[in-house]
Amino acid sequence: MRPRFVDCHSHVVPSGDDGVGSIEEGVALCREAARHGTAVLYATPHVWPHLVLTEAREAAVREAFAVVRANAELDLRLGWELTPTRALLDEDPHRYVLEGTDRVLMEVPFVGPADLVFALAELTAAGGLQPVIAHPERTEAVLDQPALADELAARSYLLQVNATSLLGRHGEEAADLGWDLLEREVATIVASDGHRPTRPPHLDEAYELAVRRLGEERALRLFDGSELLRPLRPASRAASTADAESPARSAARARG
Ligand SMILES: [Fe+2]
Repeated sequence: MRPRFVDCHSHVVPSGDDGVGSIEEGVALCREAARHGTAVLYATPHVWPHLVLTEAREAAVREAFAVVRANAELDLRLGWELTPTRALLDEDPHRYVLEGTDRVLMEVPFVGPADLVFALAELTAAGGLQPVIAHPERTEAVLDQPALADELAARSYLLQVNATSLLGRHGEEAADLGWDLLEREVATIVASDGHRPTRPPHLDEAYELAVRRLGEERALRLFDGSELLRPLRPASRAASTADAESPARSAARARG
């Protein structure tokens, strides 16, 4: 049976960041993702130090998201990708959850120290949410000091590796570290971080490689939303079943 992927990280809704520039481009990427096996796709616009989430920006993103979702031909959901800043430490992290989950996606900055991601993750966890740490294998801090990834995982945060890293698109170092984190089960999620037609939200190629390296059962768990959609606590299971439709149920429906 062909696996159906859950991709928790992409930039397929126009938001003023470096993702898609138009609704048409976003819709085309969503449809392509569906053709490549993705059933549930999270659009996660960047929240950058210089592009924060003002109310006006959020309203515009939600409006664009609704149009892309209506035409996406997959289950499109909204989240955000936080670049840690001091200003975010004064905010309520619940604003930024990945829709339908208790999780918040945040990146380790590409350059510079990882202190702020630890602080933001702590704040998030203190709020009863679980941080999902995006692409540690691509960052200066973790490449210099891989033990930082182990430390983040030891705090029960989820670590997410990019499919493109596994395919060697960001260099040998990122590929080696990405595979190492998966093999040691320090990272437990693979996502696309798809941005544009030349860097599309595809997971199938990396999945095939993971099946060969890790075996089908382990590979599937990295790509099918097992970790992402697992209820954080028994109480949230009750809450999610009370909702109209949880992502897990929706993914199951998409699997047929
Ligand atoms: Fe991203």
